[in-house]
Amino acid sequence: MCGIVGYIGESPAAPILLDGLSKLEYRGYDSAGIAVYDGEKIQVQKAIGRLKVLSELTHDGAKMPGAAGIGHTRWATHGAPTNNNAHPHFNGDESIAVVHNGIIENYQKLKKYLEGKGYQFVSDTDTEVVAHLLDYYYKGDPIETITKVMHRVEGSYALGIMFKAHPGILYAVRKDSPLIVGHGKDGNLIASDVPAVLKYTRNVYFIQNEEIAVLSEEAISFFNVDGEEIIKEPSTIDWDINAAEKGGYEHFMLKEMYEQPQTVRDTLNPRIKEGAIVIEELGMSDEEIRGIGRIHIVACGSAYHTGVTAKYVFEGMARIPVDVDLASEFRYRNPILADNDLVIIISQSGETADSLAALREAKNRGVKTLGIVNVVGSSIAREADKVMYTWAGPEIAVATTKAYSAQLIAEYLLAIKFAQVRGEITEQDVRAYLKDLQKLPEQIEMLLGNKGKIQHFANRYISAKDVFFVGRGLDHAISMEGSLKLKEISYIHSEAYAAGELKHGTISLIEEGTLVAAVLTQEELYKKTISNIVELTSRGAFVLAVTNTGNTEIEKAADYVIYIPQTNRWFTNSLAIIPLQLFSYYVSVGKGCDVDKPRNLAKSVTVE
Ligand code: AGP
Repeated sequence: MCGIVGYIGESPAAPILLDGLSKLEYRGYDSAGIAVYDGEKIQVQKAIGRLKVLSELTHDGAKMPGAAGIGHTRWATHGAPTNNNAHPHFNGDESIAVVHNGIIENYQKLKKYLEGKGYQFVSDTDTEVVAHLLDYYYKGDPIETITKVMHRVEGSYALGIMFKAHPGILYAVRKDSPLIVGHGKDGNLIASDVPAVLKYTRNVYFIQNEEIAVLSEEAISFFNVDGEEIIKEPSTIDWDINAAEKGGYEHFMLKEMYEQPQTVRDTLNPRIKEGAIVIEELGMSDEEIRGIGRIHIVACGSAYHTGVTAKYVFEGMARIPVDVDLASEFRYRNPILADNDLVIIISQSGETADSLAALREAKNRGVKTLGIVNVVGSSIAREADKVMYTWAGPEIAVATTKAYSAQLIAEYLLAIKFAQVRGEITEQDVRAYLKDLQKLPEQIEMLLGNKGKIQHFANRYISAKDVFFVGRGLDHAISMEGSLKLKEISYIHSEAYAAGELKHGTISLIEEGTLVAAVLTQEELYKKTISNIVELTSRGAFVLAVTNTGNTEIEKAADYVIYIPQTNRWFTNSLAIIPLQLFSYYVSVGKGCDVDKPRNLAKSVTVE
């Protein structure tokens, strides 16, 4: 995610902004910028790459005098990492500067409206729309201006705002993206996260959704979306800097698991317009979609597992034949590709060597390619014919969680879109699917609330030697991801198996007490998997079942049951993965493993 810092006080602002941004580097970024009011105008400096570049350009801030400013580290979501797209963004006469963390979901509509009013844009970002909208509404009262903008924008935002006409004041407002206010002894600050202010104060206010903060050198006041003043109590931060970077969570992996509800919203909502799916970046006509002969999904690791899920969803919903390949295999097996096929490369980092090579192989064959990628401007994003971004923000933990969940959402949206265009489902079906998808964030939140129960169960298995994950159909796909999560962060041997396949050999490994996690979310397969469970328990296995609420029948067969809320059959992987992530996490923690940086692993595998 992007990082925001703002300062107003007695000291020079620029060095404080740079220092604060350096404490937010863990959030991931590809460009940065600061704006400082120098007594006459708002000076700005931006730079692509690391903060060091910005510090050098500004001589560690010395070249930008002034005691009020805002700064930003940008994790690109809309528009590649360029100087033009870096924040702060300005209105036309540079009398208003803004930094933003989040996604303005209706920015295209607002941009068109403002262009119609004569506004000119210099960047590809959604944020610039906010700068011009503030200009559009500004009649002299910043709070009235900000509340009007809040009523117009949809999506998530944390904003730091400066008005040249009000030099002694900083403004901040948030909805769904984090923002705090720090009350320091020689000045006041805003920031995306606690680490940026800890050097100056432990006295912070947590701004709630749709609250506006107004900071002067001496005082801080708060207003609601109706412009009425509200009273807020400060909190005292007792975290150390290391804990603070993780937002108070013990590990980035846990923090990122808890970010999954927002990640799902951020990947989903901007692509739903008036009850229809709009994937602007897809750039495929209905005729091209109807003409697709076969889809080849190619990826590695967890991204590959989402591809296995997507195969069931695309084939079940859109009736398009789908092959799923490991990229390291695809690139060397001389795949058979037809001109009207579509190759989808899935990659969080967008830099995985095998996946990039597979993309190039497909392009060399003249086949249309689509990337589903998290890192804007990455190699796969740049080289694929089309790219559909997952807006998960930077993922620090090596074991993917939120990016995995975002990939599933992107694939569901594509499958629904393709199914509708190809006449396999009706508009009514689409509305029903979207309703279920929009419930997922709160259902994920509810499942994350189970962490205590799962931690208790996980502690029983920290000395396990082998754990098996089984399921049929979509439940097999999620078993693969559950197994990988456990292996990669707890170093316990684990295998995922199609439940019907166990009796063809692997069941010989089942001993007294062997843990088997069985996933049963596909109603028409319940009975089949329950018989597999009975085969396992009769040979001594201890079976943990993950199943839909209401399927209490399972309690007769399994030893321990975790229920997930009801959702559409195609989307159950998005929910079943949550207890499996939590289980792996707590086993790893219980074993004292390095959860965020497991041995032998890298976050991005850029070598063969
Ligand atoms: C997932 O937890 C692993 N870290 C790994 O399997 C990862 O999914 C795989 O390396 C693919 O990475 P990518 O999505 O960046 O291409």
